[in-house]
Amino acid sequence: MPRKLVVANWKMHGNLNTNQHLLNGYIEKLSALTHVDVVVCVPYPYLAQAQLLLKNTNIAWGAQNLSKDTVGAFTGEVSANMLLDFGASYVIIGHSERATAYCESDENIATKFSQAKAHGLTPILCVGETLIEREAGVMEMVVAKQIDTIIHTYGASIFANTVISYEPIWAIGTGLAATGEQAQSMHKFIRNRIASFDEAAATSLKILYGGSVNPQNAVQLFVMQDINGGLIGKCSLSAHEFEAICQAANQSFS
Ligand code: 13P
Repeated sequence: MPRKLVVANWKMHGNLNTNQHLLNGYIEKLSALTHVDVVVCVPYPYLAQAQLLLKNTNIAWGAQNLSKDTVGAFTGEVSANMLLDFGASYVIIGHSERATAYCESDENIATKFSQAKAHGLTPILCVGETLIEREAGVMEMVVAKQIDTIIHTYGASIFANTVISYEPIWAIGTGLAATGEQAQSMHKFIRNRIASFDEAAATSLKILYGGSVNPQNAVQLFVMQDINGGLIGKCSLSAHEFEAICQAANQSFS
């Protein structure tokens, strides 16, 4: 199995004090794991803290969103260059919590993806269907549409060395994770779709699974061929649980 990538998505949690404890916990528990790449995506104000504590460790850091624009009169927005100023190397794009609450369109998400890539940040594109869409059997169509907007605008080669996270909306924060088989089937679909346009890009792409990953279900997800790691919400807020998930990823490397 190739090396896995495990990404913590803290969402809107933490403060200077709790972050320091959590990041020190990560450093202490994860420094011995040499067969997994670990990233933590923090709220914007804590990028400087992440940089201070994580530089010279084996943990990278990033943000949970970025502006689709490069610079200008865009009140409240944060640009790719600003993230780079704080040593960020990854950025989550199009998370369903943003797409629904802040009406992010597929077109906006595509522009953000290209902004990140053009500035040397690794974008983590979130895709996934609702429960109604799964029950109606149209989940592949839904995910294909999310990916195709990027392919049609920028070409499939833009996916080279980037990350897609399959996050079924019904699995996020519900305790009801997709099974290894359900996730593997969608991951294979995503890789094949990109491969049909650009085989090399599809091979270099990492596809993560996100949605109620925990220490108990991590192993059965990470043994799957096309699951290259996980995007972890709730369990990333505990150094102990996050370590157990990273351990599972570390052990799947061979
Ligand atoms: P949970 O792990 O809390 O379900 O969150 C998943 C997620 O949204 C990661 O981006």
